[in-house]
Amino acid sequence: MIADKMRLGINIDHVATIRNARGGEHPDPVKAAKLAINAGADSIVIHLREDRRHILDNDLIHLMKEIDKPITLEMAPTNEMVNIACNNSPQKVCIVPEKREERTTEGGLDVCTSFYSLQKYISKLKSNNIDVSLFIEPDINQINAAKELNATAIELHTGEYCEALIRHNELKIQNELIRLEKASIHGYNLGLEINAGHGLNYASVASMSKIKEITELNIGHFIIGESLFIGIEEAVREMRSLIDAARHN
Ligand code: PXP
Repeated sequence: MIADKMRLGINIDHVATIRNARGGEHPDPVKAAKLAINAGADSIVIHLREDRRHILDNDLIHLMKEIDKPITLEMAPTNEMVNIACNNSPQKVCIVPEKREERTTEGGLDVCTSFYSLQKYISKLKSNNIDVSLFIEPDINQINAAKELNATAIELHTGEYCEALIRHNELKIQNELIRLEKASIHGYNLGLEINAGHGLNYASVASMSKIKEITELNIGHFIIGESLFIGIEEAVREMRSLIDAARHN
């Protein structure tokens, strides 16, 4: 059944980015997670990168202990990361492609090409009762492969859409919206849970919230940036109300 409410996952990686700039304990990602939840976040998202540039192994341990909402762990498909996930049992793992030199996750996973290595990791995670989401482009072949791999969910990469909005590229905005809509319906009809994220802000969140097949949006950079001006609770509340208004319109 299509969910009436859109879940909102808040990615707190950049709280750790600021903390790590000085190497101390401030600002504390656990405190940020608690404030985000108070303001309406349904889950907390962290990306444990191979180079540990923001979230550290201890952050995952502390968040698992202190946060009573689901934690989504974004991670690369590697033995090291799968073992960390299995040792900590977050509710969901979102497998993302990872390149050391990239500033952020630049594109979706190529599920078709990495099919057999992903199969091994997904079955290990699922046998440890961890839901598995695959971060992919809104592409029918990728979605079909995710289904074949028995993923719980797919997270559709909204980066191209958000970029088109920033550049006021009307043709691309429409094309990307259609691509995201079609992909959401296709995945939903296959029985996959549909999540979406990357680059979302106050301006782009409404159109994603209107796609009923999408049941979760994951947002980080914009919220943490906006928090500098209005505080994390206010930023999450504003995002939450824009999502709810668009969903019920
Ligand atoms: N979803 C996934 C899988 C991501 O890798 C990221 C970035 O860490 C996000 C969502 C959030 O993107 P942004 O920080 O641009 O909101």
